Order: sequence, then structure tokens, then C-alpha cells
Amino acid sequence: MTGPIPLALLPDGARLASEDVLVGGVSLRELASRYGTPLFVYDEATLRARAAEAARAFDDGVAFASKSFLCAAMARLAHEEGLCIDVATGGELDLVLRAGVPASRVILHGNNKSVEELEAALGAGVHRVVVDNEDEIGRLAKLVSPERPINCLIRVTPGVEAHTHEFIRTGQEDTKFGFSLASGAARRGIARLRAMPGVRLHGVHAHIGSQIFELDGFVETLRILGDFVSGDDFDEVCIGGGLGVAYVEGEAAPSITQWASALRETARAVGLPAGTRLLAEPGRSIVAQAGLTLYRVGTIKQLTQRTYVAVDGGMSDNPRPVLYGSGYEVFDVGRPRAERPRRVRLVGKHCESGDIIVDEAHLPAETAVGDLVATPVTGAYGYSMASNYNRVPRPAVVFVGDGRARLALRRETFDDLSRLDVDA
Ligand code: LLP
Repeated sequence: MTGPIPLALLPDGARLASEDVLVGGVSLRELASRYGTPLFVYDEATLRARAAEAARAFDDGVAFASKSFLCAAMARLAHEEGLCIDVATGGELDLVLRAGVPASRVILHGNNKSVEELEAALGAGVHRVVVDNEDEIGRLAKLVSPERPINCLIRVTPGVEAHTHEFIRTGQEDTKFGFSLASGAARRGIARLRAMPGVRLHGVHAHIGSQIFELDGFVETLRILGDFVSGDDFDEVCIGGGLGVAYVEGEAAPSITQWASALRETARAVGLPAGTRLLAEPGRSIVAQAGLTLYRVGTIKQLTQRTYVAVDGGMSDNPRPVLYGSGYEVFDVGRPRAERPRRVRLVGKHCESGDIIVDEAHLPAETAVGDLVATPVTGAYGYSMASNYNRVPRPAVVFVGDGRARLALRRETFDDLSRLDVDA
């Protein structure tokens, strides 16, 4: 793991020059001087390729899980590539509609949808509402009528334990999400929904977790769903999201196409009727590898135990290492082809010892204060989970492609940070 950064972790088509890295034909060093650091850089071609791959691999209605990374440019891109957009809150719904995505391409999720969120979705005319629980059915009963119908799926828990971190595992029985198949809650929910005038129930949905490398959990889930719906006249089965991505050297994940093929084979094996739409909601597998984060090294502290390399961001722009113990790599943008023999801990600028971006990172021996470094595969659940801890402004986000860069989200300012403070 001390060789140069593997190209497979960078966006498609990235090139390691001798003293720079090109992404989408754009120099990372130039991007840092133009937009400042920390900076999220997304390669548009990689985003489009993955979105189009998902649209091809699954049936119409397959959605991009916007919680993984959302801004207007991303919502439009996913829509243009033929995907629906999955939103899990009123806030996500609002942004996607502001971006100009037609409501008829939006799917509303959420384990605790408020009346306001349901009303907004109904008023806009979303494509699907994924019904999560009995209380939601009660709320819908008051909002829906034959004149104001909704199209929905019912979210069920298949009782499958995915091989992933327990915080991002959701298919097991002991979960806050969805109707249990085992207890009969799902059958009862379906009966209630079917009895409601104005509700069109199209099928079932399950999501077993996230960052999953092995396809067997998905296959098992689809088998269970297939058995459950046999004899019903559902026209959609959605397997949720969750396909993993490689974050560090040595990891390998199935492609979206391989994921879909395994599921199609299972759909045939369990006898899902040929007309049943096989759907999914990938997030991470579309955006993770398309993005990277640029940081400037501010200080290096050499101890006998270890060396700390501190950069100008941290847990506010990437909370995943702290939350899930997730691993990342780092490379020196000005020395991308150099060996990385120096073992360091990459840390941020927050007032916590836990503010670690890469616990055991490798950098070239020459990397010094003032140099530009980058962590690849930060396109998913980085910006979308960013915070203002220590009143650190959120980084800017740029999209690159064909040798050009465009700002998608400008850097936050101190004025932005104070706008909610009524006494400031
Ligand atoms: N569909 C549903 C219903 C979901 O809950 C999720 C993710 C997805 C689709 C998209 O899953 P993906 O393809 O991105 O794995 N913050 C965590 C991940 C939380 C995932 C939540 N739900 C992380 O940074 O790893």
C-alpha cells in the first residue's frame, strides 16, 4: 500500500502527470488555486457513466438515492441520464423540485414522514411514495382520495442481515424501517392500503443496508420478496440501494451491471412475472468514485510514536471515518507517481482528537506544509453529511469535464454561517 495511488480509486479517465493530476482534463492544482481548499471535485463523465449504467441495468423507475450527494446539478444530471430521484425528506424533495426535476420522476422515502412532507409530495404529484409504517398509512388516509390519488410501494423488512457496519444495516427484523414480513405486519399493511380509495399499490420495497460488497444478501432478499409477492398482481419490486464501492487499495466491488444481472437471474429463478419491473436505488455506487476532496497541508507534527499531517478540513467535510471507522487513502497531488513510504495520520483542523480523516495514511517522504493532498472516493456521504462543526464553512463543489470546471456549490462564508443567528 506504499506505491503510488491506484488509478482505480480515482474518477474514470484521471491521469497522473509528473507534478499534477488531471481529472476530467482539468488540473487539480489549478482547481485548488482557483476555488481554494478544501474542495470537492466531481468528474461529470464518471457520474454520467454510472447513472446511465444504472438506468440501463434496471427497469424504468430505478432511482438515484439523493442522500448520497445532492445539489441541483446532480439532480439534473441523474434525471438527464434517465433515473428517478429518491428523496427521504421534505428538504431533499424541495431541492430536487427546485432543480427542475419533474415530480413525476421523484420517489418519496422516509420512516417518519410528516403530514407536511406527505402533502408536499402529493401536491407535487410524485411518482411513488414508499410507505413505511402504520402511522403513515393513517396520515395518508386523511390526505388521499380518488380525486387526489397516490402511487406507492410498501417497504418491508426481509429479515436479512447484510454484511456491513451495524449503523448502515437495515434489512434485519430489529430496525426502525418498514413493515416486518415475519410478523405479518406487511400483509396487514398491504390489506389496509388496498382498502383505501385513491391508493394504488404497485409493489414492495426492501433496503438491507449500505456499502455491501457481497451480492448474496441482495439475492437472498429478492428471493424472499419474490416468494412474498407470488400470487399478488404487483408490477414492481425494488431492492433498494446498498451496493458497495472500493475505498482503499485492495478492495473490489461488483459493478452496477453485475449487481443487476445477479438480481435478474434471481428474479427469473423465483418466477417473478416477466412484466414485473425490477428496481433499485443506488446512491454511493453512482457518486462515490466520481468525487475526491482536495486539502492543503497546514502543519506536520512529528512524534516518536507517529507523524500527524493536518489539513484544512476534517470531520466536518468527511465524518465517515469517525462515524463508521471508514478507511480512505490520500495522495500528494504534486507527486502523484511517487512511492508513499511515509506512514502518517491524516487529521483535520477540528478541536477533537477524533478528527481523523485517514488513521493509517501513506504519503511520499517529501510531502510538506503547503502541499496539496487529495482523498479519493469521497463523492458519497461526504458533502451530504458535512457539518459546520467549529463554524467551519462547508467546502465548494466543482464539476469537471472536457477540460473545463464549473462551480456547483459555492464555498460557504462566515455570513452564511451567521444568517440564522438572530442576534449576530
Ligand atoms: N434506498 C434507501 C431506502 C436507503 O436508505 C439508502 C441509503 C439508499 C437507497 C442508498 O444506499 P447506497 O446505494 O448509497 O448505499 N451515511 C452512510 C450511508 C447511509 C445509507 C442510508 N441509506 C455512509 O456514509 O456510509
